[in-house]
Amino acid sequence: MSTADSVRLVEVGPRDGLQNERGVISTATKLELIERLAAAGLHNIEATAFVSPKWVPQMADHSEIMQALMQRSSQWPDVRFPALVPNLKGLEAALETGCREIAIFAAASETFSQKNINCSIAESLARFEPVVQLAQSAGVEIRGYISCVVACPYEGSVAPQRVAPLAKALLDLGCYEVSLGDTIGAGTPAQVHALCETVSAQVPPAQLAGHFHDTWGMACANVVAALSHGVRVFDSSVAGLGGCPYAAGATGNVATEDLVYLLHGMGHETGVDLNGLVDTAWWISAQLGREPVSHVARALEAQRERTCTQPKKTAR
Ligand code: HMG
Ligand code: MG
Repeated sequence: MSTADSVRLVEVGPRDGLQNERGVISTATKLELIERLAAAGLHNIEATAFVSPKWVPQMADHSEIMQALMQRSSQWPDVRFPALVPNLKGLEAALETGCREIAIFAAASETFSQKNINCSIAESLARFEPVVQLAQSAGVEIRGYISCVVACPYEGSVAPQRVAPLAKALLDLGCYEVSLGDTIGAGTPAQVHALCETVSAQVPPAQLAGHFHDTWGMACANVVAALSHGVRVFDSSVAGLGGCPYAAGATGNVATEDLVYLLHGMGHETGVDLNGLVDTAWWISAQLGREPVSHVARALEAQRERTCTQPKKTAR
């Protein structure tokens, strides 16, 4: 699947990026975003979340989104569309749409677990057991997330020793990979080095992913730190969209275009067309009434304007 120098990107913009938006975003706009991301070469696009609409209203159209994607799946034979699932109810709704991959999500902090999914860490693992069993029997692949891997918005710093056994537990449960989430984007490369060292003593780096929010501007540096430990999968969000409803002040994931520029510059292949991605970053930002926050979307657009090689963003 991956060569030594290739890095797999998991685009989480349509889910993590949009889940915290207050304004109405139509289902058609979300589907067009996903279509544009696939056209730009993203092969893993987290499309939605089968969570309670009372908790996260922006994801209320999860079934329509997934159904539309599954109906048109022959259009994208190489693209995977995982969706978050917190419990059996969510999985049953996902299965009805033909969804082929889910992501279960736990946290390394007890308080965040309670705020996010209304149960303790141990209860969440028990809750995921029947979810994993049913998903496996339906041939659905399962990814795992751990939030608050370096810090929690309620409890402060989180020791890597709290993360490692949870990562192992999620793999033992049946996840093919565990994504380590710096939910509030406060981590530094030194913390990511310590995290990767401790976690990879229990879990092979080939089964880890990095999910770095960029609140404090450290996400790209944290990616480089994780790369040095052999991690080759990273989650990111086009235009740097996002935030978590249960982590006040946290901003979006590392912008996919910043990550792609970084990785290509380091000699890694991603399969992503940076120009098409930046067009998509400007397009979705215009739909949301603002400009992309990412450095690369702005820099590439400024370069285009200087050289007039592409239509201006307003014409897009
Ligand atoms: P609960 O209130 O404890 O659930 O919520 P419940 O089982 O008691 O049910 C209460 C009501 O919710 C019932 O409806 C259920 O039917 C309904 P009522 O009878 O009141 O009308 N319900 C559901 N509806 C739709 N889909 C479902 C579902 N389950 C129950 N799946 C629950 C527990 C887990 C449902 C809730 O806490 C929830 O939905 N939480 C989701 C929170 C969330 O989406 N957070 C953001 C994503 S995580 C994240 O962003 C972090 C990540 O990016 C990594 C990182 O950055 O760290 C992944
Ligand atoms: Mg996140």
